[in-house]
Amino acid sequence: MKKGKGMKFVGDSRISADRTLSRIPKDYSEYPGRTEAFWPNFLLKEWLAGSVFLVGFMCLTLAHPSPLGGLADPTNSSFIPLPDWYFLFLYELLKYKFASGDYILLGMIGIPGIAFGALLLAPFLDNGPGRRPHQRPIAVIMMLLALASTVWLTYTSASHVNWEERAAMDQPTPPNSVEIDTSHEGYGLYEASCLSCHGDALAGGAAGPSLIGTEHTAEEIGVIAREGTEGGMPAGIFTGSDEELEQLVDFILTVNEAAAE
Ligand code: HEC
Repeated sequence: MKKGKGMKFVGDSRISADRTLSRIPKDYSEYPGRTEAFWPNFLLKEWLAGSVFLVGFMCLTLAHPSPLGGLADPTNSSFIPLPDWYFLFLYELLKYKFASGDYILLGMIGIPGIAFGALLLAPFLDNGPGRRPHQRPIAVIMMLLALASTVWLTYTSASHVNWEERAAMDQPTPPNSVEIDTSHEGYGLYEASCLSCHGDALAGGAAGPSLIGTEHTAEEIGVIAREGTEGGMPAGIFTGSDEELEQLVDFILTVNEAAAE
């Protein structure tokens, strides 16, 4: 007896169990040379292909670790979090009036739920036996609609974003490569009044931005040290003499010069 002969199991959701026998495709053993044994031939090939992809992906992730974005900056209130590109279409959907505000549940659960739920219904909505696209109009139209709306929403969302600005904002914080000259006469002053917010290497911390690459002049830094900024640095932090202030500013600028090299 040929392998598989007489087996009537059909694992195809598009063919209902009570169809007349004539519509069930011929047994695979009727096509000699175009079929193969599941075990071991087919399974071995599948396993080989799977291993190649797995090893490939492992090499890719080792060679290109996923990038870390910039350090989260709690003082930056203008930062707009954005989902990764493959979720932009869902994000864009929430901007439409019919899917936001009072209808936010519709945008968050309703519409995506119907769209993904339709995937479950697809085999029942379109259960013709044909395999060509024109024989399966409902499935094809549903797929094209989903594809078109996903592409359109992603494109619209992406076109609203200033990617260059974002890329600049998302630069990973460089490691502390700047030498800090702790023997500089301004270091002690920095350590006492500024380090807690601006970090031990001037690279910024949880409560203050980096002072490396600051665009302020020496005078402006002096003023900021005494009067703070409107944007969040409190006034009155530095209470030393003018001479000490000069040393402090000189220290900050010296580190900046070293960092610029
Ligand atoms: C309580 C925390 C805190 C302390 C202490 C502090 N700063 Fe700041 N500093 C900030 C914050 C927050 C900002 C950002 C404010 C803004 O964006 O306007 C800032 C901004 C600055 C800036 C402007 C940075 C730029 O390039 O825009 C300078 C210069 C500065 N600080 C200098 C100092 C100096 C010098 C000291 C020590 C005398 C000091 N800061 C101590 C919190 C602090």
